Amino acid sequence: GQLVIWKGVLAPVTSPIFLCDETGEEHQVVLGSAPQLDAEAAHEALHSAVSAYDKGRGLWPTMRVSERIDRVEQFLVRMREQRGEVVNLLMWEIGKSLKDAQKEFDRTCDYIVETVDALKELDRASSRFELKEGVLGQIRRVPLGVALCMGPYNYPLNETFTTLIPALIMGNTVVFKPAKLGVLLLRPLLAAFRDSFPAGVINVIYGRGQDTVSPLMASGNVDIFAFIGTHKVANTLKKLHPRPHRLRSVLGLDAKNPAVVLQNANLDIAVEEAVTGALSFNGQRCTALKLFFVHQRIVEDFLERLSARIGSLRPGMPWDEGVGLTPLPEPGKIEYLQQLLSDALEKGAKVINPNGGDSNHSFFYPAIVSPVTPEMRLFREEQFGPLIPVVPYESLHDVIEHITCSDYGQQLSIFGEDPSEVGRLVDACVNQVARININTQCQRGPDSYPFTGRKDSAEGTLSVADALRAFSIRSVVATRF
Ligand code: G3H
Repeated sequence: GQLVIWKGVLAPVTSPIFLCDETGEEHQVVLGSAPQLDAEAAHEALHSAVSAYDKGRGLWPTMRVSERIDRVEQFLVRMREQRGEVVNLLMWEIGKSLKDAQKEFDRTCDYIVETVDALKELDRASSRFELKEGVLGQIRRVPLGVALCMGPYNYPLNETFTTLIPALIMGNTVVFKPAKLGVLLLRPLLAAFRDSFPAGVINVIYGRGQDTVSPLMASGNVDIFAFIGTHKVANTLKKLHPRPHRLRSVLGLDAKNPAVVLQNANLDIAVEEAVTGALSFNGQRCTALKLFFVHQRIVEDFLERLSARIGSLRPGMPWDEGVGLTPLPEPGKIEYLQQLLSDALEKGAKVINPNGGDSNHSFFYPAIVSPVTPEMRLFREEQFGPLIPVVPYESLHDVIEHITCSDYGQQLSIFGEDPSEVGRLVDACVNQVARININTQCQRGPDSYPFTGRKDSAEGTLSVADALRAFSIRSVVATRF
């Protein structure tokens, strides 16, 4: 019944922010510590969720929907009181700018409200009876069991709550592992969880995935696995489950979203959308634009304007007014970006913008890299950071071929003013990706839109209503008349 199993070794939680001490020397800030659970402690948390579910007989899965909604609304009131503290931790733990951190918090609260509204609607629809061929049927949405929810570090609040809240509100019990970075920002919410939900309904675990998540998957007691991260990790974890046919998964995975800038594109729009599309939160978004195909007749103009626009982005601390570039929180990320960059340069590309690729502590100055070719790692690998690969193209056929054969299929952006050319590209790609954006960047929102991907980019769909469906099944009570 404990919300958090607080034992094991305490590991320090560091910030990507460096501050000067009185001698002028810079030090990485240590923010606190979090427990590193072992398998035994993780099993305790799972046992608590399994007992609270009690094969569907527990208090929570049998509670009326309206009462579960009340509990979630009660939680939301308490969560809103913690806005300042959570926003502060989003800045210090993952380097998110104040504006983006506030947006993430408010968007998460809105998501909860929309989820409650969608469930009320779904519940109204479920309680209708239908008489057909002498049988009166009622279809109810019921929970699946025990959910294991894990979110990503780039949206440690929003993207974990977009699985956690639907899982809870549909009557499942949950083991919840915070993202690998952004672990502390849940602490201000723990009391609200404890006071709003019955014991055992939500259980928070901390620690390394291999020590905690792997044994839980191998136990066979996880009924639904909600994970946002790479498809390799997702597959490894799913394979551990002894009865895979019993496991449901909702996965948000890798993406390498392309932008196609057609020769008649409005370059003011294309450049502006490229900057925010590729560099918001330093490009650490699954929906970021990660590969630009630009028609060769306009590529020089595009590169020149993009380079000038990037030159106006100001690096700074997350709380600085108008900051454009903030520290990268992921250990080893800068080395990885440097490797991708060196590989591209060795194979003939250039850095187009002044200072592109420079780094200092956890800052990495964005680099526009062109011409990028299929032999380069940057063409294929998901950089998840501030590198902008540009591929000049002559034939649209080659671009379509690339999108068709890519292992990823989350989203695509098209920039162009000729409706028939844009329409042709939409028709050619509509079966390749899960969302096409015209004259605008790729993005998840509005959160009520279905959010998914094809191929290695996703399994299942998350949005407000889709998530409620993902964490439940429709069960029928049929009565012969
Ligand atoms: O990291 C993936 C997120 O779902 C992206 O959401 O497009 O709102 O930044 P966003």
